[in-house]
Order: sequence, then structure tokens, then C-alpha cells
Amino acid sequence: MEDIPENIEIVEMKSAHLADVCEIAIFSFPIPWSYDSFNNELNNKLATYIVAKKDEKVVGFGGIWVIFDESHITNIAVHPDYRSLGIGDILMKELLKKSYDKGAKDITLEVRRSNIVAQNLYKKYGFAQDGIRKKYYQDNGEDAIIMWKREIKE
Ligand SMILES: CC(C)(COP(=O)(O)OP(=O)(O)OC[C@H]1O[C@@H](n2cnc3c(N)ncnc32)[C@H](O)[C@@H]1OP(=O)(O)O)[C@@H](O)C(=O)NCCC(=O)NCCS
Repeated sequence: MEDIPENIEIVEMKSAHLADVCEIAIFSFPIPWSYDSFNNELNNKLATYIVAKKDEKVVGFGGIWVIFDESHITNIAVHPDYRSLGIGDILMKELLKKSYDKGAKDITLEVRRSNIVAQNLYKKYGFAQDGIRKKYYQDNGEDAIIMWKREIKE
């Protein structure tokens, strides 16, 4: 695995990727999006989704919605077998770049209070806590921390 992240390719998500994407989502989220939810996103003009591929295998994915000058990260996940190798970094850099290219000035997301790994990733890229959604997650009533990164640069 030492050759990661050099051998990672980032491409736009297509329907052919969705089986792998759903598998990663099931491994990654207590309430994973369904195949139909991801599929609908591929036809959502406000949405941009990317996958990270190693050889032909999808090993991670992420998505944004850009509405006027705000971007919202809807999802970011890496297959458990490929975590802590720098793929989250690659996905985050690409989501920031795509947000900027589509005209976003600021970018936001929600993250579970207990998800320290993801919070570390977001802080590394300049996101800071700016609000709480109380009992946001339906599975366990956990709070969501709202994070923002202002004035994103290319
Ligand atoms: C969050 C997630 C996408 C990170 O992906 P990854 O490929 O493992 O991350 P990377 O190896 O690129 O690491 C990037 C940064 O994330 C943080 N991080 C990654 N793994 C970590 C760990 N085990 N412990 C603490 N921080 C960690 C660090 O800030 C790291 O930067 P550093 O290596 O310079 O310290 C991945 O853990 C994941 O898929 N989690 C489940 C899904 C999820 O929680 N998504 C976010 C929902 S809001």
C-alpha cells in the first residue's frame, strides 16, 4: 500500500461506480444513503460527486452541493481498508477545488459530535465549528457540529 496516494485517480462519479459507493457508504455511515439517493444525485444540477479509484476499484468518494456562493459537503468517505493513507486528503482538496471553480466563497458541513477523525480532517483544511444542530442524527439522537471554512481559495 506504500504507493498510495500516487496511484489514486479522481474522476466524476458515474452510475457504474454506485455499487462500490453504496458498499463504502454502508461501511462508513450509521444511516447510509440508498442506491437511489446516490443515483438521484447524479442528475442533480447543483451536485458534484467524485470518486477516488485505485486501479479500477473505487476506494472513496465525496460530494458537494453548490448553491450560489456556498458549498455544502454532503458526503466524504473512504473504504475502511484504505483509511489513514491520505485518500481523505485527496478527496477534500478536490472538493475544495471544485467548490471554488463553481463559484463558492464559503463551504460548510455537518459532522457527528463523536466523529473526531472526520473533525480532524476538516480542521486540517481550515474548517471551524460554527453552531450545533441538537439531536440531528435520527439513529442515536447525536448532535451535529456545523463547521464552516470561509473564503476558500483555489
Ligand atoms: C474521515 C475519513 C474520510 C478520512 O479519510 P482517510 O483517507 O482515512 O484520511 P487521510 O488518511 O487522508 O487523513 C487526513 C486527515 O484526517 C485525519 N485523520 C485520518 N485518520 C485519522 C485517525 N485515525 N485519527 C485521527 N485523525 C485522523 C487527520 O487529520 C489526517 O491528517 P494527518 O494525517 O495529516 O494527521 C475516513 O475516516 C472515513 O471514511 N470515515 C467514515 C466516514 C465519515 O465519517 N465521513 C465523514 C462524515 S461527516
